[in-house]
Amino acid sequence: MADQRPVGIFDSGVGGLTVVKEFVRLLPQENVVYFGDTARVPYGPKSQETVIRFSIENILLLLRHRVKLIIIACNTASSVALSTVGENFRIPVLGVIQPGAQAAAAATRNRRIGVIGTRTTVKSRAYEEAIRRIAPGASVFSASCPLFVPLVEEGWLDTPVTVQIAADYLQPLRAEQIDTLVLGCTHYPLLKPVLQRVLGAEVVLVDSAQQVSLQAQAILEQECLLNDRAHPGQLQFFVSDEPDNFAAVGRQFLGFELGKVEKAGYV
Ligand code: DGL
Repeated sequence: MADQRPVGIFDSGVGGLTVVKEFVRLLPQENVVYFGDTARVPYGPKSQETVIRFSIENILLLLRHRVKLIIIACNTASSVALSTVGENFRIPVLGVIQPGAQAAAAATRNRRIGVIGTRTTVKSRAYEEAIRRIAPGASVFSASCPLFVPLVEEGWLDTPVTVQIAADYLQPLRAEQIDTLVLGCTHYPLLKPVLQRVLGAEVVLVDSAQQVSLQAQAILEQECLLNDRAHPGQLQFFVSDEPDNFAAVGRQFLGFELGKVEKAGYV
């Protein structure tokens, strides 16, 4: 029996649409309810305690839509909140850290892995710990890249300034001779061409958005929660502030028009 209930995806703002894009590419038949917490973005510089509280509120909001599985698309929220909140709900709640760490451990040849993310993600050491659990001998080198989020939101994806900032941020990781880099933030997949040029073609870029979508697919299959392949799924977008701005920036992330974006309040 097809399970038509939607999958819930949340992020601090617009960035989680990189996860929606991968998810609908993989599972176009699924209905999706997305919540972007645009009133409280960015999560990257906020404390662990605050991000955990926001994450619980966002999950409760998605549960009102009778979702069958939740993806925490935000790397910052995944890194500090998933271990606290993940087990407390009757439906599966997935974060991006474990799938990204698994893909990095599988991709590396020299066992030297770089991780980039927001300050809170890097400070949490969540990727580092997850990678070391999977590949105990691996060396992990992390760098926070706080200027990347505003650059992407301004659409400065491949300007000389972006290249210069990327070169500066990545220099310490290049010096460590990493052969794999985890893009540990929702916004970074949009910078792939610049990051690849700066690091060189031989470095593998691991996109957590792709990996978490594959994990969600596996769980939906295992638990018999998939929707019917015959019908294309519906996408619904909710934000806590500024729906018009979200729709405009979101088009760049998704590659197509979002349609209606509604304002939703917390529970
Ligand atoms: N979505 C956040 C993340 O993936 C980036 C934006 C923010 O700081 O809220 O970490």
